[in-house]
Amino acid sequence: MKYIVVFGDHNATAFVELKSTLGDNYPDAQIIHLDKKFAIIDVKKNFNCTGFQFKLANSLKIGELLFSENNFHGFLLSLRKKTVPLEISGEHNLFSVSVHGFKPEKTRQVHRSCATTLKQNFSEKGLQTKYFEKKQPAKQQLNSTPAEVFLKKLVGRELIVCKASNKYFAFKLAAALNPFRYKKLDDSRPFQRRLLNTPPRISSLLINLLCMHEKEQFLDPFCGSGTLLLAARQLGMDVFGCDTDKTCVKGSIENVDWINQKTGASKSIKQGDATKLNELFEKNFFNGVACEPILLPPIKQIPSSKELEKAIEKLKPVYFGFLESAHTVMKKGARLCVVSPYIRTSKKDVFLDLSKKASQVGFKTVKLLTEKEAGFFKQQEEYLLDFSKNQKIRRMIYVFEKK
Ligand SMILES: C[S@@+](CC[C@H](N)C(=O)[O-])C[C@H]1O[C@@H](n2cnc3c(N)ncnc32)[C@H](O)[C@@H]1O
Repeated sequence: MKYIVVFGDHNATAFVELKSTLGDNYPDAQIIHLDKKFAIIDVKKNFNCTGFQFKLANSLKIGELLFSENNFHGFLLSLRKKTVPLEISGEHNLFSVSVHGFKPEKTRQVHRSCATTLKQNFSEKGLQTKYFEKKQPAKQQLNSTPAEVFLKKLVGRELIVCKASNKYFAFKLAAALNPFRYKKLDDSRPFQRRLLNTPPRISSLLINLLCMHEKEQFLDPFCGSGTLLLAARQLGMDVFGCDTDKTCVKGSIENVDWINQKTGASKSIKQGDATKLNELFEKNFFNGVACEPILLPPIKQIPSSKELEKAIEKLKPVYFGFLESAHTVMKKGARLCVVSPYIRTSKKDVFLDLSKKASQVGFKTVKLLTEKEAGFFKQQEEYLLDFSKNQKIRRMIYVFEKK
């Protein structure tokens, strides 16, 4: 069966997350078409769209294939004549259309013709429907957002039209990212530390890249307010953490107890130094470790590359010491996912390279992309760069495996 996965704004991140999560849960799955904004996948095994979307924090929608045609005329004919199984009823008669893979100047027209054709088809079958149309859509924003999908209850009632490899595909929206779940998790947790939190989107990504399973042992040694611990807990892992800051330790315990709906996290979250993990936890114990250690402080103006190199140099003892100590508490084959800073200046890129030290300590670097995929997304094979448009300090995300 074929499915479309629609990426969010951070498309390379979404793709790496998709690849890693598929590989772990659906090893027979194949990515049969890759676009900058979506992928079409073929999965033989029973695919649970809702469960899979629940894991993905960087993809917006999953649709299941209804039919495909070789030309657009034939596509519209099928849309007009075929029974298109959107879940329309008297109570739920609002439907929507989203369009992907067409040239920008064609997109609005495709939206319109597909929506009109589909409405005629429904009407001939005795179904009175309404079309969800944005009144004044911003440029390129004709498609429903995940928030709109939830508010307007469009799962099962959105047709995803897609052009790929000169074929035209119709998918039914089967699952969408629930932005309110992340917002609730962020807003409702008892301990907050807004400016220093790792965003939930990144936290879930880091956990996904570990390819861990329920009930396995996860560690965040720079746990701060516990955002990664909450993300891992939501996926059913046993969570452990440490931080040098007493308030953060107390806050993380409060947050994890809150999500667990019982007390007990104080046994697994401790005050301590990430460069001395063997003093805090058992050797060879963890199935996965992920963290965002100290990044550079937020900056408005990029300092000179010399100043940045000095600042990066100061981070080395913590990062390198942490790599050594993490190796001792991880099981063989377990993964470590770590964020380090990367700054693009007008002269050159300044970053903290962790791969050499990781290799000396006994890790191998997991290649996140093939050479071709890296070229396609303008990324590297060995690490992922995640950033938004004007973000000065970017996240360089490595995945290592204990040899
Ligand atoms: C970028 S924050 C982590 C944010 C965290 N992921 C969250 O969402 O709240 C880095 C954290 O590392 C802690 N830290 C700094 N040096 C440390 C060390 N050597 N060992 C353990 N924790 C450390 C800081 O107190 C801070 O809470």
